[in-house]
Amino acid sequence: MCGIIGYLGGKPAKNILIDGLKKLEYRGYDSAGICVLEKGGFIINKKVGPVASLEKALKQEKIEGVIGIAHTRWATHGVPSERNAHPHFDCQHEITVVHNGIIENYQALKKILIKEGHQFSSETDSEVLAHLIEKFYRGNLETAVSKALALIEGSYGLVALSVKENKLVAARRSSPLLLGIGKHETFIASDIPALLKYTKRVVYLKDGDLAIIDAKGYKIKNLNGQKMDRQVEDVKMSAAQIEKKGFKHFMLKEVFEQPQSLNNLLSGRVKDNKIKLSVKVGPKDFEKIIIVACGTSWHSALIGKYLIEEIARIPVEVDYASEFRYRQPLIKLTDLIIAISQSGETADTLAALREAEKQGAKTLGIVNVVGSTMTREVGSGIYLHAGPEIGVASTKAFSSQVGALLLFALYLKQEKHEKLDPRLLADLKRLPAIVEQTLKVDKEVKKIALKFKNTDHFLYLGRGLNFPVALEGALKLKEISYIHAEGYPAAEIKHGPIALIDEKMPVVFIATKNDLSEKIISNMQEVKARGGKIIAVVDQDYGYIAKLADYLIKVPVVNKLFSPIVNVIPLQLLAYHIADRKGLNVDKPRNLAKSVTVE
Ligand code: M6R
Repeated sequence: MCGIIGYLGGKPAKNILIDGLKKLEYRGYDSAGICVLEKGGFIINKKVGPVASLEKALKQEKIEGVIGIAHTRWATHGVPSERNAHPHFDCQHEITVVHNGIIENYQALKKILIKEGHQFSSETDSEVLAHLIEKFYRGNLETAVSKALALIEGSYGLVALSVKENKLVAARRSSPLLLGIGKHETFIASDIPALLKYTKRVVYLKDGDLAIIDAKGYKIKNLNGQKMDRQVEDVKMSAAQIEKKGFKHFMLKEVFEQPQSLNNLLSGRVKDNKIKLSVKVGPKDFEKIIIVACGTSWHSALIGKYLIEEIARIPVEVDYASEFRYRQPLIKLTDLIIAISQSGETADTLAALREAEKQGAKTLGIVNVVGSTMTREVGSGIYLHAGPEIGVASTKAFSSQVGALLLFALYLKQEKHEKLDPRLLADLKRLPAIVEQTLKVDKEVKKIALKFKNTDHFLYLGRGLNFPVALEGALKLKEISYIHAEGYPAAEIKHGPIALIDEKMPVVFIATKNDLSEKIISNMQEVKARGGKIIAVVDQDYGYIAKLADYLIKVPVVNKLFSPIVNVIPLQLLAYHIADRKGLNVDKPRNLAKSVTVE
């Protein structure tokens, strides 16, 4: 969950590295650091806080060196501080390293190194790497890194630099790294956005790869020194795609991008009254589905359960990936494990997937980030093609995940030789336009948000397919506005949460019309009777609800199966406007990072 950028070429490295760090801040942003090799020595700068602080500190510095590495950090071992910020060094300042991941055996290694006379200056696990590489260094950085990594347990994406050689050595195990190939220059980064301004030609490193970059170009080997062939790929994403496009925050831009992201998802996949997916599994290959995911992706998994069970009549279990991986799950060869992840790098979801693969189950990934670790490990998958999601709060990835699960449910039904309703498919094609129309609620939701910016608690209630939408609305609000919020299936309130209701408790009801509407209305009456403030998301026949609710948010009428995609939009906007009104850092909420690549 930190960001790495490295450069070796003919231009001064400083500005390229700072620029790359800015594009990576969404991966971690509590401190940042840079090291440039100049005249046989390291020029090092680190700052706590955003990359802008580092940039400011370096503005007047004339640094001409053409080789360097930099890092933006999200603390795991040791508090955010200059000492703990990367790059890390050995005692003589001859080796420097930036590292993402976790060195699990760092304490044991540190003990040995201290006995041998090494002095440590940080509390991080990563610093061990610099000392270990220095210990093995005999004039060849590549050999020293390989020897050091042979002793490491855990995960790493790292780049090392020695004062004695004009080269960078990078290595990857369970933490993404890719090379950017320029003209007489090579970049190395943990994520594509850091490179896009300079090149679109990239090489994804695989686990176990060691990349050696020098003035002649790059070589990729494994840790035993054998040459590895890796393809150069062209990145389709444009630099403009990752700009804010005039919106105040990435999150708001991404909410408004949902018509486009859904269009990307559906494009070419609903054709001639058929669902076309290039997945390698069908209903004959498994008896049960288990979906594993975390956070927002777990909420879409819960909706997936409703969709697949209702449409394809195949049983589905949903589990938090972090629980699944450690509870000795009962996995059968006849199970299909679906992993859902925006980033494709979430440590717990990857671990759950690996556990399932170890036990011989078939796997499928529903992933947004192309080329991410998950997409390389999974049996087959459905890409969301939602484009980069920079805001830490996931929005467009959620609607696309639900859309992908809907496509998969329909696909399973079709592959069972059951007829798909052509009207449903036609409606599905119109979904992006309906979402565009739904976004018009923004003005109304903004007004409502103003009234609730000083509220301490919120409840979100929904039923059926819209129960997970309630969970998602509550998660959005708490992560960006720091207001305590909980989601429940509406019928559950009388089993406890109703005790919380008084005139200070706003309750958001997802009350679009369905078979359970009558029941939702009686839950509303219960809340009203206790003075709770009701915000209701409605679509049609809401006359009676209008009498009970303090605020109505009207969304278009859609097929019940699409309702989570439409109904989540006002909830995303409500969270956004409350957080914005509170003056909070919406795109980078405190204590959170975009992709959680450690446990
Ligand atoms: O990249 P993933 O979808 O695997 O990420 C899972 C969660 O970390 C993520 O959804 C998180 O809950 C978001 N901050 C929610 O907005």
